[in-house]
Amino acid sequence: MQKLIQWIDARLPIVDAYNKHLAQYYAPKNFNIWYFFGSLAMLVLVNQLVTGIWLTMSYNPTAEGAFASVEYIMRDVKWGWLLRYMHSTGASAFFIVVYLHMFRGLMYGSYQKPRELIWIFGMLIYLVLMAEAFMGYLLPWGQMSYWGAQVIVNLFGAIPGIGDDLSLWIRGDYLISGITLNRFFALHVIALPIVLLGLVVLHILALHEVGSNNPDGIEIKKNKDENGIPKDGIPFHPYYTVHDIVGVAVFLFIFCVVVFFFPEMGGLFLEKPNFEPANQLKTPAHIAPVWYFTPFYAMLRSVTVDLFGLPAKFWGVVVMGAAIAILFVLPWLDRSPVRSMRYKGWMSKVALAIFAISFIVLGYLGIKPPSALRTGLAQVLTTLYFLYFILMPFYTRMEKTKPVPERVTG
Ligand code: HEM
Repeated sequence: MQKLIQWIDARLPIVDAYNKHLAQYYAPKNFNIWYFFGSLAMLVLVNQLVTGIWLTMSYNPTAEGAFASVEYIMRDVKWGWLLRYMHSTGASAFFIVVYLHMFRGLMYGSYQKPRELIWIFGMLIYLVLMAEAFMGYLLPWGQMSYWGAQVIVNLFGAIPGIGDDLSLWIRGDYLISGITLNRFFALHVIALPIVLLGLVVLHILALHEVGSNNPDGIEIKKNKDENGIPKDGIPFHPYYTVHDIVGVAVFLFIFCVVVFFFPEMGGLFLEKPNFEPANQLKTPAHIAPVWYFTPFYAMLRSVTVDLFGLPAKFWGVVVMGAAIAILFVLPWLDRSPVRSMRYKGWMSKVALAIFAISFIVLGYLGIKPPSALRTGLAQVLTTLYFLYFILMPFYTRMEKTKPVPERVTG
């Protein structure tokens, strides 16, 4: 074994890589449960890839055969139901885990210098993940798959000048058809997963270059012992590999409960109209995307006025796009001298709380059919969402921060 390792190592530095990224990668010793979600996101990614490959073996990407092939997987393929439920539950789990992972970043200022690139790669992952989920959702060719895709692709039509051509180009047809299904299949199973994997590698490489942040937001590299090892650091392996197993165990327990007992999650994870095959002649009474898109969907619908000769729909798309785009520049909006919420002032704390509540309530409003009251509320919450970012350069500079300790606290 030793010889084999030496042989490989002379040709490919595996020992170096093992040391750099695991055995001699010193992570802050004060990680808390919020630090589980990065490794959990990797676990869910692997789950999606593995179950996805097996689903592809029995799935038929044609308008004529797609719905029936999913039923075939559910009823006739051995363990097919498990593969499908692991994949559909995995999609929602991915977003839950990633949203919590991002929230941790907001709480502890993990996007601040020198970790801007980690954040930007994370945001790119988030974008690709949304595209991946959107395209995957068309594949079962149910009513909601069909009409959801119709609504979203039509949004591109709101872009002045090129809009109609652009949506035609995306669909490859005048309405969502087998041609669209076929190309979404190709993108969902090959193109986007490759991009996603590449981005995750870059995300981790960027993280390991500068080292992890921690709940105190202190740079552990500033306090090193005589051997140049951070005093508040512990080797990732074995300490955090074992620590992360605890997170994995808890996660798998909850994941299995959902997969085996509540795979539809009351219509949240698998929407009810999607148990009916796609029908181009029958629009569902109420079209809503899956829960992880609904905060942005609520923002889109909250714009109701035509402005500068352009329709409300166009401005809705702009607002939705801006809501995601603004997250990219977050590292340059936060001017606080401290990173972690533990040492920021009350204004940052209140702002983050309002932001998180607004996002969750917007998600709820996006699931529900619109009413005058709901649209009004969505308008207020969309404004609060943006104010969190727009006012950040001011409140992070104005507020009084607490003194940051020299060494990490428990
Ligand atoms: C497939 C999705 C993702 C995977 C597999 C992933 C993986 C990881 C892992 C393993 C870590 C180190 C462990 C940890 O700190 O939890 C990490 C850290 C980090 N991730 Fe992600 N991530 C993903 C998506 C995102 C997204 C969407 C964002 C934000 C937009 C993001 C932002 C960050 C930041 C800022 C850190 C450093 C945190 C710190 O040191 O405090 N990640 N990520």
